[in-house]
Amino acid sequence: MSLPKKVTLVEVSPRDGLQNESTFIPTDIKIQFIEQLAQSGLKHIELTSLVSPQWVPQLADHKEVIQQAKIFPGVTYSVLVPNEHGYQQARALELKHIAVFTAASNTFCQKNINRTLAQSLIDYESIVVDAKQQGLSVRGYVSCALGCPYEGKIAPGAVLDVAQQLLRMGCDEISIGDTIGVGTVQDVRVLSELLLKHIAVDKLAVHFHDTYGQALANIYAALELGIHIIDASVAGLGGCPYAKGASGNVATEDVLYMLNGLGIETGVSMEKLLAADRFICHSLKRPSRSKVAIARG
Ligand code: HMG
Ligand code: MG
Repeated sequence: MSLPKKVTLVEVSPRDGLQNESTFIPTDIKIQFIEQLAQSGLKHIELTSLVSPQWVPQLADHKEVIQQAKIFPGVTYSVLVPNEHGYQQARALELKHIAVFTAASNTFCQKNINRTLAQSLIDYESIVVDAKQQGLSVRGYVSCALGCPYEGKIAPGAVLDVAQQLLRMGCDEISIGDTIGVGTVQDVRVLSELLLKHIAVDKLAVHFHDTYGQALANIYAALELGIHIIDASVAGLGGCPYAKGASGNVATEDVLYMLNGLGIETGVSMEKLLAADRFICHSLKRPSRSKVAIARG
């Protein structure tokens, strides 16, 4: 298959990025950051998570972020929902786009949301069915798709099974997460080829952390198979507090640089993305992990 002509970048930094910071980022900084991301032309931004503040104190201001974020027309703003409690909050806040998250690894699921994989799917079923009846869009994450910090190698068939269960419930899109960034091109090819035998390409996204420096190569392997929804995070922020060894997501600027070089359309401005990078790195008082941001000084 030839490379896609257009790619949708799903910007996860306000959620995946800031959930993993050691300090709490003030709400007004988050709001300004989200606005800058939207100004860059990104069309899908993950705002925050309706998770427990005991578990993820960095996102304890989720309600304020949702209420105060400036909404740009044409931009999808989504929020993570871990359970019924979070879903009820999402409904009360009149959210239109949610994401549920489970894993291909039972141990990770247990550590991350305190539910077995099987329980998580049972719990999500009623949430997803109701959300679809209410006209919401629902993304489903499958974490540890290319390896688990607790269970090691994960069989591609296990990823397919969870993805299909989420789709059967009504999820619109499945994001395949290499949560700890251990996968290589061959793993991505084998898994994606299997998934694409059963799932339409328009319903698949890839979400690669860059722990071992494989994320760009892995994204290219996914592009070669026609996958055209790519999660990324400005400045390479990110990581899951409940996945030992997880480091940053692939940097959005670096993905954009590669896509620009391939002539693939995204609608995103590199200069504005770099401005958002400078803003958040200045606020966090540390350097960007994006190679493009480093090169541009
Ligand atoms: P739990 O302790 O099992 O919850 O946590 P519970 O149902 O037993 O309830 C205990 C208390 O928590 C109760 O309060 C509930 O009301 C409250 P109490 O009666 O004791 O006062 N509670 C909540 N409060 C706020 N928001 C809620 C909520 N639910 C219950 N939603 C829970 C279960 C799911 C809440 C917890 O495990 C949690 O918040 N986990 C979130 C972990 C997380 O955010 N991980 C990072 C995101 S996933 C990720 O990064 C991977 C991804 O990027 C893809 C990839 O890279 O692969 C998506
Ligand atoms: Mg992640």
